[in-house]
Amino acid sequence: MNFPAFETLAVEQQGNALLVTINRPKAMNALALQVVEDLHALLDTVTEHARPDGGWPVRGIILTGAGGKAFVAGADIREMSAMGPDAAAAYSARTHELTLRLESLPIPVIAAVDGFALGGGCELAMACDFIYATEAASFGQPEVNLGLVPGFGGSVRLQQLVGPARAKELIYTGRRIRTAEAERIGLVHTVFPTATEMYDAARSTIEDVAAKSPVAVANAKSTINAALGLPTADGLAAENRSFSQAFGTEDMQEGVRAFLAKETPSFPGK
Ligand code: CAA
Repeated sequence: MNFPAFETLAVEQQGNALLVTINRPKAMNALALQVVEDLHALLDTVTEHARPDGGWPVRGIILTGAGGKAFVAGADIREMSAMGPDAAAAYSARTHELTLRLESLPIPVIAAVDGFALGGGCELAMACDFIYATEAASFGQPEVNLGLVPGFGGSVRLQQLVGPARAKELIYTGRRIRTAEAERIGLVHTVFPTATEMYDAARSTIEDVAAKSPVAVANAKSTINAALGLPTADGLAAENRSFSQAFGTEDMQEGVRAFLAKETPSFPGK
């Protein structure tokens, strides 16, 4: 898969995983507009190749930050200092669009967090399917320190993950929390002693997923995301549609055939 040259991203295919590194270490990988646009351009290419008839060369994305100090330390405060309400609305909308695109990708996206995931950084991580983090990472929504509120999805996704009371306490105080607490409240999925162990685990998870039906994984992701926040009956209706549609796929035929024949399935991805 060929990517355009990105000003702010480093991209490397590692087996079935695409390692995407936000690469502005001198600014703690802050989400300047250019980073947001580069991530959109990256997703244009991945979407093209991660569709069923595209051969599925990428079965998952690992999103991380360069330099070992920060995943992403938030929106770019220097850039924001020149914005008024209209520019801020456009900045927030473009980033919301990005987070929705991450959620609608047919492949998993793992946030690999080593260092600060603050403000827009925490929000970007929360738009991934799950968060792996090192013990040295920290998380927070410090916007109140700047007279701001979360603008890249934190008002919605933080309470989905940790519940409204914890989300309010974190957002009202701007309190920064360490990984252990973030894991305890359900923000972080798994904690690793070192970054090396974290990246190894993320790659290994994507290789596990790569052995499964790409269609089933894509449907599972879209069904879980669609059901989020819906009344139970509506969520179950979404699941019913997804489950029944699976019966019309070649992947389902192959998975069931292989099980009954005591063979390893070879999924065609359709
Ligand atoms: N935007 C722009 N530049 C940033 C930045 C950000 N969010 N965070 C850090 N930087 C820059 C610093 O200005 C500094 O640049 P210079 O060397 O040119 O001075 C460089 O990165 C290193 O930062 P520090 O010297 O401050 O490093 P530190 O180790 O002492 O502290 C930190 C690290 C705790 C992350 C601190 O930089 C910090 O608090 N950053 C801001 C965090 C923040 O408030 N994030 C939320 C932004 S608002 C937001 O994200 C809104 C939203 O919801 C979309």
